[in-house]
Amino acid sequence: MTTYLEAEANPLRNTGAIRIYDADAFAGMRKACQLTARCLDGLVEIVQPGVTTQAIDDFVYDFAVSHDAVPATLNYRGYTKSVCTSINHVVCHGIPNEKPLKEGDIVNIDVTLIVDGWHGDSSRMYPVGRVKRAAERLCDVTYRSLLLGIDAVRPGGHIGDIGAAIQTYAESERCSVVRDFCGHGVGKLFHDAPNILHYGHRGEGPEMRPGMIFTIEPMINLGRPHVKILSDGWTAVTRDRTLSAQYEHTIGVTEDGCEVFTFSPGRFDTPGIAFDPNLDAAR
Ligand code: MF3
Ligand code: CO
Ligand code: CO
Repeated sequence: MTTYLEAEANPLRNTGAIRIYDADAFAGMRKACQLTARCLDGLVEIVQPGVTTQAIDDFVYDFAVSHDAVPATLNYRGYTKSVCTSINHVVCHGIPNEKPLKEGDIVNIDVTLIVDGWHGDSSRMYPVGRVKRAAERLCDVTYRSLLLGIDAVRPGGHIGDIGAAIQTYAESERCSVVRDFCGHGVGKLFHDAPNILHYGHRGEGPEMRPGMIFTIEPMINLGRPHVKILSDGWTAVTRDRTLSAQYEHTIGVTEDGCEVFTFSPGRFDTPGIAFDPNLDAAR
């Protein structure tokens, strides 16, 4: 059975109950998420061949501090960086370091900024210089799968509708959906109930209700879906070393659908990725 709670009147820990947020919370999330989106916009000109992921981390840290925000990943469960940078076959939770990006890489940059206690969580793929067609296609398929997941969000629907939409489309493009990580409720907590699986069946899982806030963040692979965690305890990579891509938005369920809090103010939601018109049939 699913329990739904008024968000602010209840303790700040993940009890498994789903929080229902009011208009003030939506306003707070809008602000945090738009700052995160501006930070991701600012990274468009930073990401170039030769730039280190540590330089990206420095940019995000400085951006946060200069906007009265805190990067949520800093000291989160022992993680020591302001951002996750996941390159090529890295699925998620790549740790910034001093190794430079090279032409042809694709890198996911995942930023979560806390503003007035609210967490804005979003990630995008950034191509480094010119990338191979297969890499661009994977990014295209992954962002489209996220949009199809978002389209499935409406009150009265079920969380499973989201994963079903993502999985059906991604697999129709001969890609696979990572099972080991999921989207999540978000608000004053970084990771809260419910889990948002990126695979599954329509009608499964908790019912969606107005006032729910969560992320959708599909990780899509060109090869098989299986991952392993490297010895640093964080970095998740594809077992078959094929490319993996991810985009993430934070959304709120409204009376008639949803509001996407993390859309790019500069229209850089898919920086450097030209959508392939041949894939438009899927929409
Ligand atoms: N931002 C990630 C997410 O989308 C979580 C990163 S947690 C970290 O949920 F510790 F790895 F940074
Ligand atoms: Co997230
Ligand atoms: Co994130």
